[in-house]
Amino acid sequence: MSKRLTAAVFTLLLLSVSGVHAGQKQTDGAEAQKSKSATAKTTKRSKHSTPVAPSAKQGKLLYKAYQCFDCHSIEGKGCKNGYSLDKIASKRSKDFIRDHIKDPDKHFDKQQGSFDVDLNLMPPQNLEKWEIESLVEYLQTLK
Ligand code: HEC
Repeated sequence: MSKRLTAAVFTLLLLSVSGVHAGQKQTDGAEAQKSKSATAKTTKRSKHSTPVAPSAKQGKLLYKAYQCFDCHSIEGKGCKNGYSLDKIASKRSKDFIRDHIKDPDKHFDKQQGSFDVDLNLMPPQNLEKWEIESLVEYLQTLK
């Protein structure tokens, strides 16, 4: 084989290999894009595009769906050492519960001293208004 031919074959080979590679990258990229937008959708935390009438029943479902039990316990269920929400309706007003779910950081600063912890550990929830109201309604049933 002449040197030129070898070089040509080599170039062709290189082109086809990088071509395949580029193609693969593109699909990978598209896949990543897809899963990225899927994550974006779930982090937006809206199961319904149209608002639902707030209710305790919805609140109970949302409490589970948003895994509040990762940090909270109700009647011994949920996080074992979690912040208990037992009988919260007897201890806290509707406004107190609403304000905390709306913006835990801000509410914690405002209500310093009324929690059993020294700093706010509850992350922002970014919920829709009807979702907050439903959770308030649900927690109001825990007397
Ligand atoms: C990462 C842990 C975590 C998650 C998840 C979490 N919370 Fe909390 N929550 C806390 C902690 C800790 C407190 C105690 C005060 C604080 O740190 O702000 C608290 C306090 C509260 C309070 C005030 C309780 C009281 O009587 O003082 C309410 C109401 C509440 N959370 C509701 C919810 C709801 C509803 C969800 C789910 C949408 C939720 N939390 C998710 C950690 C969490």
